[in-house]
Amino acid sequence: MAVQFNYVAKRGWKPKNPDENYVITLLKIELDETAVKEAKYHHLKKGQKKIDKLFEDAAGTVAAESSTGTWTKVYSGKDSGIKMAEKFRALAFDLDYEKKMFKVAYPIELFELDNISGLLAGIVGNIAGMKMVSAMRVYDIRFPKKMINAFPGPRFGVSGIRKLLKKPKECLVCTVPKPKIGRTAKEQAELAKILFNSENGTYDGIKDDENLTNLFFNKFDERCRLVLNELKKAEQKTGNKKFYLCNTTHSNIDEVLRRAKLIKENGGIFMMLDVVTTGFAAVDTIRRKNLGLAIHAHRAMHGFITRDNSPGVHGDGKLFGFSISMILLAKLFRLLGVDSLHGGSPLAKMEDYGEAIYIKDVLQTKELKPHNKIPSLGQNWHHIKPIWMTASGGLHPGDFEEVLNKLGDDIIIQCGGGLLGHPDGIEAGVKAIEQARDIYYKKIPLKKFVKENPNSELASAVKLWGYGPRVVY
Ligand code: 3PG
Ligand code: MG
Repeated sequence: MAVQFNYVAKRGWKPKNPDENYVITLLKIELDETAVKEAKYHHLKKGQKKIDKLFEDAAGTVAAESSTGTWTKVYSGKDSGIKMAEKFRALAFDLDYEKKMFKVAYPIELFELDNISGLLAGIVGNIAGMKMVSAMRVYDIRFPKKMINAFPGPRFGVSGIRKLLKKPKECLVCTVPKPKIGRTAKEQAELAKILFNSENGTYDGIKDDENLTNLFFNKFDERCRLVLNELKKAEQKTGNKKFYLCNTTHSNIDEVLRRAKLIKENGGIFMMLDVVTTGFAAVDTIRRKNLGLAIHAHRAMHGFITRDNSPGVHGDGKLFGFSISMILLAKLFRLLGVDSLHGGSPLAKMEDYGEAIYIKDVLQTKELKPHNKIPSLGQNWHHIKPIWMTASGGLHPGDFEEVLNKLGDDIIIQCGGGLLGHPDGIEAGVKAIEQARDIYYKKIPLKKFVKENPNSELASAVKLWGYGPRVVY
């Protein structure tokens, strides 16, 4: 309980000039049943319910613990810092007693503006440990302009990558080799050659899978050189630019940097980094080194942070666990300056809570409005460029029309199994994807094409996988 000052704003209070003066967060909590049973209040306001008072206390405790307070009253004499603590304390506001949702406004003075690790240690550092709550979801954060200005943001973003690839419009297509691990470096380069050269030679990219790092049969250095060598040859042969999302992920940042250098030396334009497992400090450091490479952010492990199967995940109903939304993570990574982020897909094989389309907006809209259903805060991105969303997870040619309709053209559509599982082989997989993409841009409906071209590679893919998402159970 917040005991020293009041950390709950008066009803109706709004932060003044929030985009200049405050970091705002949006949360929902579930009160712990024992805490509800045991709560004793002697001074409830007239008509105030015990549960509402407890909710206020919980919201106040979140604001206190994540800003300047602690569980007990502390020494407040001279030199105690108590005046500053009071002045710059966070305030819980906009309390929704029904849904148990609220916002917290943090005065900007509480933070070092260019330090995401420090910011998170405050705003979500300790609050998930509070005994009086049994569940909590942090839905969103809204950064003020000064904090946005403290970051360079993506170096390339959507437009920069389009320039590098000489592809002014349309989506990009890319494949992760499957099996996830198994091919040698040479075999992977051979696969790159097939992807890049077969059919019309318009296949754009290849990406390492997340668990492919530096293995005895597929060494990073060898893979990087061989795949980029095939890529360069294919660019010459086909006249089309290509990309390789080469996985630099390592827990030693010096090794990430060495790998990135090797990509650059071999003429690559893109590095891949698993941004949750390497962490915010790694992403920030890599971006600020200005290596001249675009950064593709893979998000392995995010499900242990973002997954929330509670009925109340979008506000109405109960929450069961503790989580932070992918929306919030996506904002952090855009701010930190990645050029592309794995954002799932509205047809993904994994649960995405209907957030994929909004995540695309988070990554690409300049003045983002809050979603009309998913709890969110919006964001003014100022100088931070829009970045690519990589749509991936169980996608196949039968999904193209819907994915493009829902997410627009500034996406990388990644089909691993959805290309390499084609019943007629890899080249046929490439052709099926080229067909699915090309008919979309010629405005030919997918179902019509399949009906009229039953022997096409696209039709065989659809026969095998259908049109809907392939869900992993
Ligand atoms: C990825 O890293 O994007 C996944 O491995 C996707 O694989 P899939 O396309 O076979 O689902
Ligand atoms: Mg993968």
